Amino acid sequence: MSVVRVPLIAGNWKLNKTSTEAYKLVAEMLPGLRSIKGIEKLLCPPFTALMAVSRLIKDTDIHLGAQNMYWEEKGAYTGEISPVMLAEYCQYVIIGHSERRVYFGETDQQINQKVRAAIANQLKPILCVGETLEENEAGRAAGVVSRQIREALQGVDIMDADRIVIAYEPVWAIGTGHTATPSAAHTLIQNVIRPTLGSLFDQRIAQNVRVLYGGSVDAGNAGKFFQQSEIDGALVGGASLNAHAFIAIVEAAQA
Ligand code: 13P
Repeated sequence: MSVVRVPLIAGNWKLNKTSTEAYKLVAEMLPGLRSIKGIEKLLCPPFTALMAVSRLIKDTDIHLGAQNMYWEEKGAYTGEISPVMLAEYCQYVIIGHSERRVYFGETDQQINQKVRAAIANQLKPILCVGETLEENEAGRAAGVVSRQIREALQGVDIMDADRIVIAYEPVWAIGTGHTATPSAAHTLIQNVIRPTLGSLFDQRIAQNVRVLYGGSVDAGNAGKFFQQSEIDGALVGGASLNAHAFIAIVEAAQA
């Protein structure tokens, strides 16, 4: 089966940039990003910068995403942000990032509620999965990643499944400067992530869903990941805060 998956390069800014700083950074990136075609470009600034960034990218082919959300649409949930609120600005939302799992105690079950709420509100979820160093060293990466996907996608209708993006982010590679090897990431996607999608849905979904790699991607190493046929782009943290580095990563995907 031959499929064409449009590469997606997403910048996860994490807890960085005021809306004024975000505006400046996006203004600096815009000319470079706009000139790159055939790659889907996505910026995920903090909530408070979504409005400013959405104005700047309004007439471009650059998409906007949030980094988290709550699953309820409205109500007495002080401090939370709902999918309905995000849908005014965003096409995507990152869900289940390892920093949310580790620092904020998010469970697979909560992640499942968020994924379903995102889909119900026309947002495309970027579901983050990945094993810790300890799990990796114990040879448990495949089991952990497969379980995270199964639990997060429980109850998702097959008609909605190709809206999902999976980001494989080994926890030990995030912010450490140590990436997984491109071939190890490729193999895990081929042997674990796509077969898990295949068993949850069907072969068409398994081949159509885009799977990104994340974890210490930078302008120097990005190209090696994109050469792998199973890797459909990247979820970039630190390097997405630098206009030149982020543009270079998107260019590497185009090459
Ligand atoms: P770094 O690129 O900073 O390692 O972060 C990766 C990440 O967590 C993206 O979601």
